[in-house]
Amino acid sequence: MMIYFNEQTNEKLEDVLNRLGRLPPLPESIQRINRMIDSEQTTLDAVGHEIAKDYALSAQVLQLINSSFYGFSDRISSIKQAVVLLGLNVIRTLTGTSWVSEMIKDSSKGLHHHSLATARTSYVLSGALSIGEPEEIASLGLLHDLGKAVLAKFLPEDFQQVRNITDHNNICFHQAELEVLGVTHAVVAGRLLQKWNLPERVVQPISHHHDEKLPDAFRKETALLRLADLMVRAEGCGYVGDLSMPDFPGEIAEELHLSLADLHMLADEAYDQMRRIPRYIGDRAL
Ligand SMILES: [Fe+2]
Ligand SMILES: [Fe+2]
Repeated sequence: MMIYFNEQTNEKLEDVLNRLGRLPPLPESIQRINRMIDSEQTTLDAVGHEIAKDYALSAQVLQLINSSFYGFSDRISSIKQAVVLLGLNVIRTLTGTSWVSEMIKDSSKGLHHHSLATARTSYVLSGALSIGEPEEIASLGLLHDLGKAVLAKFLPEDFQQVRNITDHNNICFHQAELEVLGVTHAVVAGRLLQKWNLPERVVQPISHHHDEKLPDAFRKETALLRLADLMVRAEGCGYVGDLSMPDFPGEIAEELHLSLADLHMLADEAYDQMRRIPRYIGDRAL
């Protein structure tokens, strides 16, 4: 398994993870489905049947697929149809995503709105730039700030300390996290998703979405996720815990081969999609 965390980060991360205590494991039903998908003898029918046996999981997966940030114009009403349309790799990510995204939803309206908008924008960018499977890339957007929900729930005092810093200074949330915790929500989320066996093409872009430089692997996916996150922040969709606007790194445009005109065109399309996501009352609370 690829791990790109350096030693110092690892020490601080281990400390934070120890303090996070025993986080819930991926439910057994999802682990069983993942094992089936990994097995060479599996069939689409068998996987569809296994998901359909778990009523709550099927409902969550269908709700996720039919939510506003995936682009299907016709409603997908059965797991069998979803498995055939999306393929096993994407279904593997979606079963994990459906469970983890509940944690973000419960955490904060502002963060949930930001995550939905980033999912929708990632979907648009994936299709326009032909990077990855749009449904899976949308999952990156949906889960990228999961670490914030986890820190808020399991380390509330440290989280509040980070909030105090961002409330009174023009500083990005992840920079305040480095001051207080020594690691960012991006790295925390990456480690958890790795523990829950989500594929590296999901784990790595999320782990590196606040790095100054793009990582060596999954560069395009990471650049796309960072671009989506920046577009959503620029539009003021939802709330991420600070009001600072990071500079736009030229490396992203370079990696994705985007001119200024391309960026404007993509931003217009993304903003159009973001406006379709219903706003919450009290959105600006984290
Ligand atoms: Fe983030
Ligand atoms: Fe974000």
